Amino acid sequence: MAKKDRINFSKIGAIAAATGSAVGLGNIWRFPYLLGESGGGAFLLVYILCVIFLGLPVMISEFSIGRMAQANAAGSFRTLAPKGKWWLVGLMGVICSFIILGFYVVVSGWTLEYIAQSIGNKFSHVSPAQLNQSFTNFSTDTFRPIGWMILFTAFTCAIVLAGVKDGIEKSTKFMMPLLFLIIIILGIRSITLPNGTEGLKFLFKTDFGKINSEVVLSAMGQAFFSLSLGMGCMITYGSYMNKHNNLSSTALQVTILDTLVAILASIAIFPAVFSFGIDPAQGPELVFITLPHIFSQMQGSAIWSTLFFILLALASLTSTISLLEVIVAYMNEELHISRAKAAIGSSVGVIILGVMASFSLGIWKEFTIFGLGFFDLFDALTSKVLMPVGGIFISLFVGWKIDKQKIYKELSSNGKYKIPFLNVFLLITRYLAPLAILLILLNQFGLTKWLGF
Ligand code: TRP
Repeated sequence: MAKKDRINFSKIGAIAAATGSAVGLGNIWRFPYLLGESGGGAFLLVYILCVIFLGLPVMISEFSIGRMAQANAAGSFRTLAPKGKWWLVGLMGVICSFIILGFYVVVSGWTLEYIAQSIGNKFSHVSPAQLNQSFTNFSTDTFRPIGWMILFTAFTCAIVLAGVKDGIEKSTKFMMPLLFLIIIILGIRSITLPNGTEGLKFLFKTDFGKINSEVVLSAMGQAFFSLSLGMGCMITYGSYMNKHNNLSSTALQVTILDTLVAILASIAIFPAVFSFGIDPAQGPELVFITLPHIFSQMQGSAIWSTLFFILLALASLTSTISLLEVIVAYMNEELHISRAKAAIGSSVGVIILGVMASFSLGIWKEFTIFGLGFFDLFDALTSKVLMPVGGIFISLFVGWKIDKQKIYKELSSNGKYKIPFLNVFLLITRYLAPLAILLILLNQFGLTKWLGF
């Protein structure tokens, strides 16, 4: 596509699409349980610091790479550094998107099953043991989760097929406000439950004794995942942003909204957890077992649980769209495959990975690689290896490879906006971000312990 006529998001469209990518299962499912496991307020504080000092600068970097180059993830690196091997970083992002989708659509499919069960009022007067059993039965079943997963992938594909403007921008501009509305309603309901303020205390009470290297590193990793960084998602979306858009303020708004949803999700969940006397330090099953248990005891349980799982499905959908777009933009611009063929072809590929991930929880349970089934393998490979590595190279690229003047021109839209923080930004992309991410990476393999941190 010629550079001049690349499709542009409107200002609001850019924020809706990028926030849609960032806000996902990471905010509503992963953040609350990490927070519960790592002791509440202390984790929140560390998380916010990671978002400000690492997440925000890396997001600004990704936006500028994409908008400067006006191309997909791999094409952006190729355009800006035609001689080197930097395009491999973009290609890695495309592969990473594919693998993330492989397990993400499985969990997204579960949200559809839970919407259906909520509407059928399946959670009222059911014991926790039964809820536990029914989640295990469902998630390890051979066919049911796959049906929902295929349906969810088809929704994603349909929106991406409709294009950047009419599909992605239009749908996220509609879904994101709806998502905010639902999460606020749920938050208010939760706080006003008897004893609900206990949950708020847990959330905002900061016990500094709980902060250790483990907590810091898990907060950093979560910040990256939650903001969709390290694999070209924000490069691709940045490439659709208008040249007059203030990139740093867009990134700031996306970051604030993403953090707000994570906090709102916790506000919706923890007061209810405390009100019904449940242990807050629960793992991943918090959303699919604990919450239905809570809903089962509330008046109008079907309504609250339906709203909640719709929220989860919407949040997932705006994220899967962004992941699929990374692949489709790449196939379209680099491999010259039509958007339609690229979207359908890659969706079929995603479904195949999804089937492998879903089977690995049930009939393929015994089959493992490095001790992990496909579901866990896809998760670990992307969030523990590919995304941190991508994040390091993206920071280094902006910090060292691109000319400082060019970055200034891009961030200031040719001098239109003031960029007083340019030197701090460069300091972070050159040193702080690559080193901090390297530490997360080493920590995943236990190397930091070995080195004596
Ligand atoms: N950020 C999303 C979430 O919080 C997930 C996601 C979408 C993502 N696109 C991504 C994660 C790109 C990493 C990279 O659920």
